Amino acid sequence: MRKPLVAGNWKMNGSVGSVEALLEGIKAGMGEIGNTSVAVCAPAIFIPQTQARLQGSGVAWGGQDLSIHAAGAYTGEIAAAMLLDFGCKYVIVGHSERRTYHAESDALVADKVEMARKAGLTPIFCIGETLEEREQGITEQVVARQISAVITKYGVEALGDSVIAYEPVWAIGTGKTATPEQAQDVHAFIRSLVAKESPEIADRILILYGGSMKPDNAAELMSKPDIDGGLIGGASLKASDFLAICKAGG
Ligand code: PGA
Repeated sequence: MRKPLVAGNWKMNGSVGSVEALLEGIKAGMGEIGNTSVAVCAPAIFIPQTQARLQGSGVAWGGQDLSIHAAGAYTGEIAAAMLLDFGCKYVIVGHSERRTYHAESDALVADKVEMARKAGLTPIFCIGETLEEREQGITEQVVARQISAVITKYGVEALGDSVIAYEPVWAIGTGKTATPEQAQDVHAFIRSLVAKESPEIADRILILYGGSMKPDNAAELMSKPDIDGGLIGGASLKASDFLAICKAGG
């Protein structure tokens, strides 16, 4: 049985004060969460504060991006070792906003997945099609291309230490959620791709759904057999909404 994971992606939001309130709110509600792992991915500058507040709380934390380099002259970048130094368990890799606004290619994202997992972080490896690609009927080709970039270069083992997040780009921050059936179809397809390489990894890998997951649609999405949790943007900024989604995980 796969244990569900609900991870918050705060994106570029927050202040010292709002992060304090959000973390206290999440911690206060953790007693009501059942068998679901919970994590928050904070802007890098708030990671020390997040660590200080969440240590021992049962909530894990992570970053939103990392460098493909170990250290050195890379102004503005964050290394895997730095994230680990501040207790991060997870790091989001290849989010569609990084792919779009920072021109991250499939090859670069694959390098980041490998860098993260080699260092001992769990990459939350994001994939998903744009609206145009869905309308062209090429959703499966797109996610297959994004996944094979990792498998071809680093082997299926790289995915064995990862979490996959299927996030249809047209559903992110738009309020338009994929229907549970649409999402399940793609999740099952993703799992079948991994199964071709390793049935064992396919069976245990967590595949999260992301894209306007909210308290009112989370339970139905996560009730699908291949949807193992969620990557939550907007709704992760309000403790009560985030906790409601975590509870819906079971
Ligand atoms: P959203 O974002 O929940 O605001 O749609 C999800 C994500 O981008 O990870």
